[in-house]
Amino acid sequence: MNSTLSPVEVAQAVHIEEEWDEFVSGRYKEGKSESEFRNYDAKVVPTVAEFYKLNHEKQTLDFVLRKEAEYFPLKKGEKTIWEAADFLNTLVDDSDPDTDLTQIEHLLQTSEAVRRDGHPRWMVAAAFAHDLGKVLCLYGEPQWAVVGDTFPVGCAYSDKIVFPEYFANNPDMNVPEYQTLYGIYEPNCGLDKVHMSWGHDAYIAHVMKPYLPEEALYMLRYHSFYAAHQHGAYTHLMTEQDKQMFATWVLKFNPYDLYSKGLAKPDMPAIKPYYDDLFAEFFPGKIAW
Ligand SMILES: [Fe+2]
Ligand SMILES: [Fe+2]
Repeated sequence: MNSTLSPVEVAQAVHIEEEWDEFVSGRYKEGKSESEFRNYDAKVVPTVAEFYKLNHEKQTLDFVLRKEAEYFPLKKGEKTIWEAADFLNTLVDDSDPDTDLTQIEHLLQTSEAVRRDGHPRWMVAAAFAHDLGKVLCLYGEPQWAVVGDTFPVGCAYSDKIVFPEYFANNPDMNVPEYQTLYGIYEPNCGLDKVHMSWGHDAYIAHVMKPYLPEEALYMLRYHSFYAAHQHGAYTHLMTEQDKQMFATWVLKFNPYDLYSKGLAKPDMPAIKPYYDDLFAEFFPGKIAW
């Protein structure tokens, strides 16, 4: 584990991450109306609100560019998928070991649910990998730079982003160029040209780029981009391919992430051989992180 994080800080990181997951699944419960969704105000969920306040105030274009420059060269060492998962699993909440899922269990529940529904093998692999980017916590990144909804930076914030009022104190609000509809981007330029707020999604999609198909990379890069995949925002920056991918694979993946948590705990010895084969099919042993 990274020596810059104390056990208390790691526990806090896990706590906010779990609370965020619960918050998101609550927000998107089937049948929940838009007005109920809007009821999630700062008084109802103070910890989550505090988290988003930090996130929305600190995720500037400049911050994102610095994090991309820091992490995209993949200088954090080489690990197999299992090694990365074991490393992520050191992020555990000791306060309630019986009811909380470990990180690996969440990954396996997600990927097992995808597998059970007969989806392609690359999607099972992507489902297992989808939260491995949370190792950013173990590199010492604060929670607001690892989890939470993601959104484009360098252009106007959509009011479909959760707690949009918290952008008021983001320094980018004072840069007029960043506050137009298109900002620093061209109309329908394609999301691959758009800098997303920094977090585990951008990082894992970059790590997986040489190994998984485009559809999988879309699922990974945008799985926390709720403003787009649940509310249809930011189509003005999307190409036709982006729209197509969101309408199919990104949307298809979301329920597996949100609603697989109640399923039975995965039987690791029974399923490990399947995953050994799966990883061998897509990854050349150790990969760069
Ligand atoms: Fe995630
Ligand atoms: Fe997840």
